[in-house]
Amino acid sequence: MGHVKLFIPGPIEVSEKTLAAFAKPVIGHRSQAFKDLYARVQPRLQQLFYTKQPVLLSTSSAWGVMEAAIRNLVNKKVLCCGNGAFSDKWLDVALRSGKEAESIRSEWGSPIRGSAIEEKLATGEFDAVTLIHNETSTGTQSPLSEISSIKKKFPDVMFIVDAVSSLSGQKIPMDELGFDVLLCGVQKAFAMPPGLALFSVSEAGFARAATVKGRGYYFDFLEFKKNAEGNMTPSTPAINHIYALESKLEEIFQEGLDARFARHQKLADMTRAWATNHGFTLFPDEGYESITLTCVNNGARPEKGGRVIDVEKFVKLVKAEGFLINGGYGKIKGTTFRVSNMGDETPETMTELFSAMDKAIAKL
Ligand SMILES: Cc1ncc(COP(=O)(O)O)c(C=O)c1O
Repeated sequence: MGHVKLFIPGPIEVSEKTLAAFAKPVIGHRSQAFKDLYARVQPRLQQLFYTKQPVLLSTSSAWGVMEAAIRNLVNKKVLCCGNGAFSDKWLDVALRSGKEAESIRSEWGSPIRGSAIEEKLATGEFDAVTLIHNETSTGTQSPLSEISSIKKKFPDVMFIVDAVSSLSGQKIPMDELGFDVLLCGVQKAFAMPPGLALFSVSEAGFARAATVKGRGYYFDFLEFKKNAEGNMTPSTPAINHIYALESKLEEIFQEGLDARFARHQKLADMTRAWATNHGFTLFPDEGYESITLTCVNNGARPEKGGRVIDVEKFVKLVKAEGFLINGGYGKIKGTTFRVSNMGDETPETMTELFSAMDKAIAKL
């Protein structure tokens, strides 16, 4: 079998152009050439994060920065908001990092609500909150502007926001929202190979880090800040990844941010229409569906009704057509399935996938 094109919600399909951008001679990470490369990607990253703060480059997967945010910003106790596999896991990561932590949970498929966060923060016990904007396991988005209004009521509480599978697919204006850490991994909507995480930290976040003991070295936010001032990273980064990032940013800004966000919305609408036209319902609560991936209900939420198929067989049949979709994650494996529309996809490439899904469904 030839190449199977990835429509799983990360890592996603990487273009030949992006892969080719890696193939440049390696340069020293303390050289002027590296500092120039770092400086070239900075303004565009800041535009993409809608921030005046530096955007920092971590040679790690997203979890590196997610754990780092806990280690750098929590003195007292962290509130971990969970509504799916990745956000639920953050509580465990906080506890393993030796921090006091507590969780609030929404049902999988339901968003995190500002009111639930506000109620907890009113106790005065917490100095940080973690949440995931786009819970990839359930294809559910939480309302960032609502959550931002709570941040504004509790300015001293650090809001740590994972936008791993949404950033660059939709607008997330970090400074306007007032969040303290915004982070993502490039293997999702950036359509790059895994291995690099991007994040930004507010002034208040850096000030908090300065008061926290045990930040370690590799993920110390203050080391990142100090090195960023000289257009460098604290340790040897994935240099060729940054060449590829430069190439990807060129493409993103050639398309234009608004056009890129509109394209993702259109492709999500097409995917949702494919699902409903085939008798399925969507897994998330209505109005909270992800814009970068679609999680289709296949019996996980019986109250929503809709068609139920043999997902494992369906995924295999779609694969035989040359496309990989995902058969559900964690406790909703098999009772949902997920289709990504993030990255470089277009109405034409999504239509090719839908034809393959049509063929597969006809064979069930
Ligand atoms: C929303 C979200 N957060 C965090 C992660 C973990 O990312 P990584 O595997 O890059 O550490 C994922 C991975 O799928 C994710 O979807």
